[in-house]
Amino acid sequence: MDYNQLFIQRCFELANMAAGKVTPNPRVGAVITYQNKIIGEGFHQYTGGPHAEINAINSLTDKSLLSKSKLYISLEPCNSFGKTPPCVDSILAHKIPEVFISLIDPNPLTMGQSIAKLKTAGVKIKVNILQKKGIKTAAGFFSTYQKGRPYVILKFAQSLNKKIGVADKQFWISNAYTKRLTHKWRSETTAIIIGSGTLAIDNPKLNNRLYFGKSPVKLLLKRHGYVAPNTAALHSEGRTIIICEPEAQTISYPNTTQWRFPFDENLLQKILQNLKNEGLNSLIVEGGARLMNSFIEQNLWDEARVFTGNKMINAANSISAPTILGQLTDTFQIGDNRLEIYKNRTSDELKYG
Ligand SMILES: NC(=O)c1ccc[n+]([C@@H]2O[C@H](COP(=O)([O-])OP(=O)(O)OC[C@H]3O[C@@H](n4cnc5c(N)ncnc54)[C@H](OP(=O)(O)O)[C@@H]3O)[C@@H](O)[C@H]2O)c1
Repeated sequence: MDYNQLFIQRCFELANMAAGKVTPNPRVGAVITYQNKIIGEGFHQYTGGPHAEINAINSLTDKSLLSKSKLYISLEPCNSFGKTPPCVDSILAHKIPEVFISLIDPNPLTMGQSIAKLKTAGVKIKVNILQKKGIKTAAGFFSTYQKGRPYVILKFAQSLNKKIGVADKQFWISNAYTKRLTHKWRSETTAIIIGSGTLAIDNPKLNNRLYFGKSPVKLLLKRHGYVAPNTAALHSEGRTIIICEPEAQTISYPNTTQWRFPFDENLLQKILQNLKNEGLNSLIVEGGARLMNSFIEQNLWDEARVFTGNKMINAANSISAPTILGQLTDTFQIGDNRLEIYKNRTSDELKYG
């Protein structure tokens, strides 16, 4: 790994400190170096707050060094007035002579324009550094621009004989480590959804309790609208949304709303559209099989994270795991669980180079 990659890698680490906190914006980190030593760092910490490169610039006590320094950023600086002024102007104002960028911004208001502006002003630019890694810090952001919907992750655990559970009781496949990893994923994702079968059998809390950072917005699919007051997800951290039919029963619990849609073939599209409208740009589907199979059948998924345990489930009422016909991108052994990560081959890939 050369210095440029090393400093961009540090930008990703900084970016990830804002997991779940900056939606609908991407996580972004920035590093300022002088003579190949880091002299300033920053990341976009909260929606509406200063962007990563501004925080990195402000972290320097001696700003006179900026005109001799290099700036590394995980995403192209913005070129427009949003909640903050354009970062590209700040870079020019501080006369930073060299800028290194991982990803080009997919927002049409920027999309290469900041890079062009910096080049025109004589700034040396290098882009597309470790962009395949970089996209992981901004997949939801890219997905809303390029696919018009949140980035969708399917996550499940299956037994050795590819069952996800039994129809009438909870069956644990994951271990303490994979459970914690799942909570990390929850912290990185803006919304989480389960079907009514999983709600009835597992009654999960759905929040992030085992990792630092935020919990996702919890979506419960419940056709008739009613969920019992002692439902665990209603009492865990974060907002809950019950997705039900238009004529479903109205319920009013604290921090809980209902989204009403016909339960037809457009249901998942409508849920994704509403998430996007609310600035929630990533969704993790945590079961069960019926709900995940619907996302698969409609080709509304981007990535699948599949744990395989070392136990068999042989009960007559066992439920088959979804079949993922994706491209296997990574495999990890975590205690007695094997984790396989697939990406969807048939959905358009995010373009980031
Ligand atoms: N191993 C794992 O990772 C894992 C994870 C989660 C759950 N589980 C297990 O999985 C089992 C539950 O799975 P499941 O497949 O029976 O249930 P599920 O997918 O959780 O829920 C199925 C129900 O959700 C509604 N639904 C799902 N997709 C829909 C769609 N596209 N449109 C409309 N409604 C939809 C329907 O409700 P209505 O019937 O009311 O219309 C359907 O009956 C439990 O045993 C649980 O323990 C395992």
